[in-house]
Amino acid sequence: MCGIVGYIGTKDAVKIILTGLKRLEYRGYDSAGVALLNDTSNGHLTDNLTILKRAGKVSELEKLILNQKSAIAEATQGIGHTRWATHGVPNDVNAHPHTDPENHIALVHNGIIENYGVIKQKLLTQGFTFRSETDTEVLTVFIRSMYDRVKDLTEAVRLALSEVEGTFGIAVVSTLEPDKIIAARRGSPLLVGVGDGEYFVASDASAVIQYTRQVIYLDDDEMAILSRDGYATKTIGDETTNPAIQEIHFDLASIEKGGFDHFMLKEIYEQPNTFHDAFRGRLLASEGNVRLGGLTPVLDKLRRANRIIFTACGTSWHSALVGEYIIEQLAGIPVEVEYASEFRYRNPVITPDDVVIAISQSGETADTLAAIKEARMKGATVIGLVNVVGSSIARETDAGIYLHAGPEIGVASTKAFTSQLAAILLIALHLGRTRRLSPREGMDIAQAIERIPEQIQYILDHAESVKKIAEQYTDARNFLYLGRGYNFPVALEGALKLKEISYIHAEGYPAAEMKHGPIALIDENMPVVCIATQDEIYDKIISNIQEVRARNGNVIAIASEGDKRIAEFAEHVIYIPNTLPILTPVLAVIPLQLLAYYVAVQRGCNVDMPRNLAKSVTVE
Ligand code: F6R
Repeated sequence: MCGIVGYIGTKDAVKIILTGLKRLEYRGYDSAGVALLNDTSNGHLTDNLTILKRAGKVSELEKLILNQKSAIAEATQGIGHTRWATHGVPNDVNAHPHTDPENHIALVHNGIIENYGVIKQKLLTQGFTFRSETDTEVLTVFIRSMYDRVKDLTEAVRLALSEVEGTFGIAVVSTLEPDKIIAARRGSPLLVGVGDGEYFVASDASAVIQYTRQVIYLDDDEMAILSRDGYATKTIGDETTNPAIQEIHFDLASIEKGGFDHFMLKEIYEQPNTFHDAFRGRLLASEGNVRLGGLTPVLDKLRRANRIIFTACGTSWHSALVGEYIIEQLAGIPVEVEYASEFRYRNPVITPDDVVIAISQSGETADTLAAIKEARMKGATVIGLVNVVGSSIARETDAGIYLHAGPEIGVASTKAFTSQLAAILLIALHLGRTRRLSPREGMDIAQAIERIPEQIQYILDHAESVKKIAEQYTDARNFLYLGRGYNFPVALEGALKLKEISYIHAEGYPAAEMKHGPIALIDENMPVVCIATQDEIYDKIISNIQEVRARNGNVIAIASEGDKRIAEFAEHVIYIPNTLPILTPVLAVIPLQLLAYYVAVQRGCNVDMPRNLAKSVTVE
């Protein structure tokens, strides 16, 4: 949610910042902007701060920059921003960077300043004026007012931030103290890239990996002061810190489209590998058990847990729901699933014997982070299932499992979902073996997990048939998704994928609940996607499908290979390979991801950057 990139060194800052912004664009694309300082290595006061910003995508900013190129050709230092609007509509004025009234300080911001109204009133009485409606401009002017008092930029930023309530990842440059970028964070991710005589600041590693693999993940309430000669870090409370430099482990290819039309499609096709990467080295097939090194500190606690509470948002919440079904089935431990946004505000009953499992692709979702803090405060042990290494959730939890899915750039989550399911399956198998599963049962599950990557590949090899079905429904106004048992959450996920990238209204429902209301919606214009894989409730879902057919609904069935009967009841059948019922969600979701993708592409939607959305939701 909002992308920040900054550079200080000797190279072409415009190029580096624009490249970084394009890589961060998945975090927000309502507007974009840069603040650039020409080479100031002589250290003299300068008024050559150039601000360029535009509503719309980074490509709009790029056009603006091309027209101004001569003014900024020399810039070797600057900051940039791609915005997901919170305060103020996405227009040129509200775009970042923001400046103080005299254009001496420029600031980019990710997050929300909650007490900006109070601060603004104070500044107005001091005679400061404002150009935008944003909380970010208030923070910029606040820093300026502090500078006027203390005449030191680092101190001005520090003092301002110590009075701010809310969340921020910021980068600041100023003509008052050129040759410096100041970065700070609270609740919004920010890292420093360490190069040779050059330094970067960015919301995530994808913006800097082209130039350096050495990064420092800033902690909450930590700030960094970057110059061409080096960097220093301290807390907002003014204590020096000494953070470790870490190595980025993914490569450039993993954040490029690699020949695919969209990141989303690439990520769908990565799933045979990413699913495998999630269990590689962890699944002990011959013992029917797992080894989860990341959980070692909490393993005893987890085995003895009275109750497991999953908390997450969106797609990650759907994988949690699958987790509830699987863990209760395999291990017999009571499981609850909570939307993180609800959990944090309703004073949930949590005891020290509970284990809370937070699931998050980005590891930065504000609601999930807050839920974790609430759970920890109440004494629960908290485990994280997180994709982004070094992210806030990974650091806030007592222990965890990294998903190893690689960067997920498409805004609609795909590969992270199946990797989350892999991690959940490993936990469930382990708990099952400590409680009620025999070694033989454990081995059967482990072997079935090992077959999943090739089974996903099989579905992907038949994507053309899904595309043909999608072509027939591009003009649909509504879709219904039905599933039962383990596949009910898959129905929810299929509906979410469709609505977020194609803007077609879609609802997921437990198939048997349909007759309690949604059945009224069904007519010849309603496509109904039914997940009807062969398991103990197969006959029940066939009955539900017949209820749809009796009302002229168009059934698109996801069925198990070899099921001859289903074609009698469905307009279209998409077959998936046979597996254990607990594993069907991993396979059943693949055609639903493809269906949503192809429908959206046919409708001309920008699937990687759907309107109003952003990848990592770092505001409440
Ligand atoms: C849907 C989607 C969102 C995220 C949700 C949680 O495709 O991407 O619903 O799943 O915002 O994000 P994470 O998993 O990063 O916490």
